[in-house]
Amino acid sequence: MKIFVINGPNLNMLGKRPQSIYGKVTLDEINKDLSARAKELGLEAEFYQSNHEGELIDILHKAHGEAKGIIVNLAAYSHYSIALRDAVEILSIPVIEVHLSNIYSRENFRHKSLISPLVAGVLCGFGPLGYRLALEAIKDILQ
Ligand code: DQA
Repeated sequence: MKIFVINGPNLNMLGKRPQSIYGKVTLDEINKDLSARAKELGLEAEFYQSNHEGELIDILHKAHGEAKGIIVNLAAYSHYSIALRDAVEILSIPVIEVHLSNIYSRENFRHKSLISPLVAGVLCGFGPLGYRLALEAIKDILQ
């Protein structure tokens, strides 16, 4: 069962972003760990990252008929992109939203995610572990 793991803008810069907020683990390291864990769970993780809103929309469209579930961190776009929110709305597969940081303990403009009301669940504040927990959650939902 294929799971899309989709990361949005600036997440390719993990390791270089402020470490007090995002830690020092890179996106590559997160993805390698997830790939191994997915195999253990009998899932196949496919990884995407883009800094461009339209490209992220295309990836979400591509998930139709290809993916059985999605783990998504739309980063800053989560807070204001109606276009990405609408692309998530079309999906009929389970979507789990992840944020490395606790968006509720940060600036006010991060407190609202436009996609949270549409997804199966949200994990934030657990760092890279959030992606692993999301994988477990997807496995559970799909069983
Ligand atoms: C983030 C939180 C967002 O507010 C921020 O813009 C990001 C990363 C997180 O994973 O904590 O780029 O989604």
